[in-house]
Amino acid sequence: MENNISMDKLVAFSKTVGFVYPGSDIYDGLANTWDYGPLGVELKKNIKKAWWKRFVQENDNSYGVDAAILMNPRVWEASGHVQSFSDPKMDCKECKCRERADNVIEAYCAKHGIEGIVPDKMTNEEMDAFVSEHKIACPRCGKHNWSPIRQFNLMFETSRGVTEGGQNKIYLRPETAQGEFVNFLNVQRTTRAKVPFGIAQIGKAFRNEITPGNFIFRTIEFEQMEHQLFCKDENAIDFYNSYKEKAMKFLLDLGFNPEKLRFKDHDKLAHYAKAACDIQFFSSLGWQELNGIHHRSTWDLSRHQEYSGKNMMYTDPVTNEKYTPTVIEYSIGCDRLLLATLLQSYREEQVGENDTRIVMGFHPVLAPYKVAILPLQKNLSEKANEVYRKLSKSFMCTYDEAGSIGKRYRRQDQIGTPLCVTIDFDTLEDDTVTIRDRDTMEQIRVKIDELENIISEKVKF
Ligand code: GAP
Repeated sequence: MENNISMDKLVAFSKTVGFVYPGSDIYDGLANTWDYGPLGVELKKNIKKAWWKRFVQENDNSYGVDAAILMNPRVWEASGHVQSFSDPKMDCKECKCRERADNVIEAYCAKHGIEGIVPDKMTNEEMDAFVSEHKIACPRCGKHNWSPIRQFNLMFETSRGVTEGGQNKIYLRPETAQGEFVNFLNVQRTTRAKVPFGIAQIGKAFRNEITPGNFIFRTIEFEQMEHQLFCKDENAIDFYNSYKEKAMKFLLDLGFNPEKLRFKDHDKLAHYAKAACDIQFFSSLGWQELNGIHHRSTWDLSRHQEYSGKNMMYTDPVTNEKYTPTVIEYSIGCDRLLLATLLQSYREEQVGENDTRIVMGFHPVLAPYKVAILPLQKNLSEKANEVYRKLSKSFMCTYDEAGSIGKRYRRQDQIGTPLCVTIDFDTLEDDTVTIRDRDTMEQIRVKIDELENIISEKVKF
């Protein structure tokens, strides 16, 4: 049975059941944009809730912010994004498509078994020379007629107010991190936090990506979940290592298969970084980055001090020592984690001799619906509705009275509902129901009054 779902099949499945739809669907979409449907929106909320619980609620000395998406453009000068947040692009003069030069070279090398070429480490001129020497063809029209390679900034620009012109140019943020850095002193003062402490944020980011997105893996609008730990430089490597562990444990606790996760150190470090790695996830896309952990030295706060003219140093309340804290950043894309969750959870199973089922084996804490209420027959709907109303005060529940009970179980399996509660005629007599487990398909009889505790226990994280 297929347990390694292809991307095309996942896209179709997600649309059919209501996880994710193509963006602007009735207008034939807009490249690299997607909309979350009724199940996707619950799954996404649950991912964010689990992340916040782990990295803010249960993480010592961590605080949240929710910063504005539009920031003073000086922020992006200080962060280096205006100058260098760009990809090498080249245009096909024949079919007018624009491609990332590094991706085209990588794909060419992979196809022709050429080893040792790392486009990340090449200049634009070196990449130009490689493309010409190998007469690399356009992946869309097959011709070889490229413009010279140039750097294109990935930030979306917009303008504020009514006058057009350079002075009004602002950017949609390409990462949430700067909202945490610029609020370092605000948070420290208002919480009286002592270094080491962390600032976390979940929010939208925007990047003018032109490469094929692979569903929600790479989109132009996405959500990031980022945590910046501010610490003394001498402790930074220990914190870097402990955040690597925390990031991995989070994924394992959500039920990810350890064989499909690995750490990958960055080949090329930013000039200020002391260490950086990704956690990669294996799927039908091969090994791909899921999140990053970066030792960013004192770069971020020093740059904001330089560009804003405000003192960003921390004063130790005990020793009175003044210093600029080092930052350990942990960053994960919420949409990318959701994609990995869908890929990881999908399975097809043989049930008995002639039956199969699709199961989304989500960790119960992530499941869109925690429980489905199923009256065995329509004339039991009054009692079933009573149970539904009682449980929906505490959990996302769904209700289904259409079709045979077997079909209804299958419908819940394929959207990942961990528990089904069936109301039958005995329920009217003794207030008991049958509760059925998604994974084991085992059924037990319990009192309605016990349901809340059973479900709470099941969805613990
Ligand atoms: N503040 C650091 C930062 O933004 P990044 O590696 O560029 O680092 C962090 O992004 C994470 O955000 C990635 O590991 C990935 O999960 C997610 N991400 C980045 N670009 C994305 C895109 N275009 N679409 C979806 N997720 C993206």
